[in-house]
Amino acid sequence: MRLNHLSLTNFRNYARLELGLSDRLTVFQGANAQGKTNLLEAIHLLATGRSPRVGAERELINWLALESSLPYARLVAEIGAAGDAPTERLEVVLELARTPAPGGGGGNGPVVRKQVRINGVPKRGLDLIGRLRVVLFLPEDVSLVAGAPTERRRYLDIALCQISASYCRALGEYNKVLSQRNALLRRLRDEGGDSGQLAFWDDQAAEHGSVLLQRRAHAVSELNRLAAERQRDLTGGAERLQLGYLPSPDPAKVIASRSATGGDRFAFETAAREQTAGWLLAHLRATRGRDVAAGSSLSGPHRDDMAFTVEGHDLRTFGSRGQQRTAALALKLAEVQMMREATGDMPLLLLDDVMSELDAIRRRTLLDALAQVDQALVTTTDWDDFTPELLAQARRWQVAQGALERVTA
Ligand SMILES: Nc1ncnc2c1ncn2[C@@H]1O[C@H](COP(=O)(O)OP(=O)(O)OP(=O)(O)O)[C@@H](O)[C@H]1O
Ligand SMILES: [Mg+2]
Repeated sequence: MRLNHLSLTNFRNYARLELGLSDRLTVFQGANAQGKTNLLEAIHLLATGRSPRVGAERELINWLALESSLPYARLVAEIGAAGDAPTERLEVVLELARTPAPGGGGGNGPVVRKQVRINGVPKRGLDLIGRLRVVLFLPEDVSLVAGAPTERRRYLDIALCQISASYCRALGEYNKVLSQRNALLRRLRDEGGDSGQLAFWDDQAAEHGSVLLQRRAHAVSELNRLAAERQRDLTGGAERLQLGYLPSPDPAKVIASRSATGGDRFAFETAAREQTAGWLLAHLRATRGRDVAAGSSLSGPHRDDMAFTVEGHDLRTFGSRGQQRTAALALKLAEVQMMREATGDMPLLLLDDVMSELDAIRRRTLLDALAQVDQALVTTTDWDDFTPELLAQARRWQVAQGALERVTA
């Protein structure tokens, strides 16, 4: 699978862009604020249906276009499958629509309507995921290690959704069930009533939640194995990185609280999915009282987290900024490998301005990793971040104010 062509209309600072991308390696160079990250953002949006940056979707539409009567942005990716499989055309249109206010008041302000088409046929946003698989590394990804648990869950979800459609479905269902269950918990807390009403939502949460717990447990153990190798390369053997899955509910803690004598710890990796569902259901039932008192679901995969440790020290609190960055990079490179092992296909690697902050060993490791992928798009402010040999293999573009110019010399 390869991204062959990208077209953008009114996306961020690109009023119009047609870009052929069939090369294995493409490097974009430009000064700050010219549109390098915007380019990778567009590709990520086409791959996952979402921007990797936080912020309102209306910010994705070109500011000048916002002045027009029907503001929209259009993104199109043409993907060439391996061999002679037919190519695919992924299209996302973001349209600014003014919503009529209920009751004819002042209105809710403009909303962005997202339309997705695949080969010209209207589809849901979810249907995009998994067609163009990407691994994106942004400078701010250091917060994957240091930031809030939400970011790490989001990271796992995007990676796993790209690998597995059934994971993505389970995630969507779980989130729906969770908000229904929480609404009922609030009602039970505020108005009282029979907590037996939770039975249906507990069943559903256990059913879908067990898929998340198992797949995440499996993925983190894969990532742990692969990231440790990458970290070893990146640090010249100096650091041993360990990733740990911190599930909710945590089998270790559940056992501790249920029986002082312990007993066998429940293990997601070896359990059948139905067993995990049964285990989660038992936990949800046993902790209903607590959930009702809180008016929300205190445990479940929506509370999962991941730990990063080096030699037993938690990088979230003890890691230097550089260590956190290296661990995040090792994780992303591990993800590339995990995706290839899971799907048989190399994802597209998108690296945003990553070289400038790395020392010599880390740079060399990264360049080695670049040599191993089928396709990579890399941005930089400085050509000197790359060796002449690497640049000679790459197609090069200069980015200035939302326009690209081919560099051949
Ligand atoms: N909706 C929009 N319409 C027009 N321009 C926008 C829009 N959103 C962002 N921009 C502009 O895009 C530019 C930033 O682009 P981008 O983040 O891709 O820069 P960059 O080349 O990656 O820079 P850096 O090297 O600093 O990371 C800024 O000048 C910003 O004002
Ligand atoms: Mg940038």
